[in-house]
Amino acid sequence: FEKYIPFKQINLPDRQWPNNTITKAPIWCSVDLRDGNQALVDPMNLEEKLEFFHALCDMGFKEIEIGFPSASETEYEICRELIENNHIPDDVTIQVLVQAREHLIRKTFEAVKGAKNVIVHFYNSTSTLQRKVVFKTDMDGVIKIAVDGAKLIKQLTDEYDGDTNFRFEYSPESFSGTEPENAVEICDRVIEALGSTAENKLIVNLPNTVEMCTPNTYADQIEYFVRNLKHRDAAIISIHPHNDRGCGVAAGELALLAGAERVEGTLFGNGERTGNMDIVTMGLNMFTQGVDPKLDFSNLPKLREIYERCTNMKIDPRQPYIGELVFTAFSGSHQDAINKGMKYMKESGTDYWEIPYLPIDPADVGREYEPIIRINSQSGKGGAAFVMNNNFGYDLPKRMHPEFSKLVQAKCEELGRELIPKELFEVFEKNYLEH
Ligand code: KIV
Ligand code: ZN
Repeated sequence: FEKYIPFKQINLPDRQWPNNTITKAPIWCSVDLRDGNQALVDPMNLEEKLEFFHALCDMGFKEIEIGFPSASETEYEICRELIENNHIPDDVTIQVLVQAREHLIRKTFEAVKGAKNVIVHFYNSTSTLQRKVVFKTDMDGVIKIAVDGAKLIKQLTDEYDGDTNFRFEYSPESFSGTEPENAVEICDRVIEALGSTAENKLIVNLPNTVEMCTPNTYADQIEYFVRNLKHRDAAIISIHPHNDRGCGVAAGELALLAGAERVEGTLFGNGERTGNMDIVTMGLNMFTQGVDPKLDFSNLPKLREIYERCTNMKIDPRQPYIGELVFTAFSGSHQDAINKGMKYMKESGTDYWEIPYLPIDPADVGREYEPIIRINSQSGKGGAAFVMNNNFGYDLPKRMHPEFSKLVQAKCEELGRELIPKELFEVFEKNYLEH
C-alpha cells in the first residue's frame, strides 16, 4: 500500500480540502456467513461454511459473524462444529446473532458453550415504520424489548460456568429509519442494563438496514449518534451498511469519517437484496490511498473462486478490483497511456504506482498484466504493438503501427469479435513473416 500516493497529496498538496480522509483501517467484522448466507437461494452447507470461515480467517478477519444458531438446527450444528472441532483460531472471535427474545437468547448461550471468544449480537427493530406497521408498539415498548434482552444476557453471562470471553453487540435494527434521539436513548439504556464500561465496551452497531437516503445522510446520523450518546466511552461505534441505492461503500466511507470505528460487511457485497457493504471494495479503496487495510487481498482470484463456489453467485465483470474486465483497456488512447505509464515506471525507477487508467497494480491483488490490453475493432495503434512486444517480444517500429493496426482491426471486423493474442500474432505472421 505504500506505493500508492493519497489523492490529497498528489492533487491538492496546498489546499484545505479534503480536510478529512480515512487514515486507518477500522475494526472489520465479516457477516458473510450470516447476512450473506441468509440471502442465498441455497444457503451454504456445513463444508462450505467451514471453507469460507477458514478463508476469512486467512484474510485476517478477527471478528466473524458465523450465523444465527438459535434460528435453526443447521445453524446450531455449524456453530457446535466450529467450536468442538477446533476450527477457530485463538485470536478470532466468533459472533452470533440473536433477536432480543428470551428463548432465543437462552439457546444462543447453549450454542456457544466452550468457545474461547464470543460476541453475542442481539437486536430488535426500532424504526418508526416498523413500530407502526410490524410491532404496533411505541418507543417505550421497543426500549423494553432491548433492555429486557440486555438484562437476560447479563444474567446468563454471570451464571455461565466456563472460560468463554464474552463481549456484546447491540443493533437497533433499521437504525437509519429511527428518530436519531430515540436511537441514542435505546443504546444508552442497553449500555446501562449490561453495565458496559470503557474497559468492557458494548459494540453499538448502527445498521443502514435498508439504504434509504444519500450516503451523507447516513453519515450525519452516525455523527449525531456519536456526539449525543451519553455513555460514548463505553461504546465501540460499528456500522452495517446495506446497498439498496448502490451506495453501500460510499455510505460506509462517509460513516467512518463521521466517527464510526468498526465496519460490518461481506466479501464482494453479498447479502440481503442488493447486498451488504462490500468489504473488498472498501478495503482496497483504502489500500489505493496508501492506507493499510489490515486485511489480505493479495489473492483475490482464489477468494473469488471460493466465493463463487460456496455461494453459487457470479461476480460481475465490472465488479471493482475483481471483475474480469476491470484491468482491461479496449480504447486506443487508454492503451497508449498505460503503455507509456509502464515505460515511465521502468525507466524512472519511481517507488510509486504511476500508471494512468490503472488505479491499482493488478499484481497487488494476485492478477496478471496480460489481460490489461485487449484488442478489438476500437483499439488503437498502440494496443496491438503493445501485445506484440509484451507477449511475443517483437518491438515493432513506430512507423509500422498504423498499418499493422489496420490489419488487426480488419480481422476483428471479419470475425465480429476481439482477438486473442495468438490470433493477433497470426495476422502479423501472415502479413510480415510469410513473405
Ligand atoms: O441489516 C441489519 O439491520 C441486520 C441486523 C440484524 C444487524 O442485519
Ligand atoms: Zn444486515
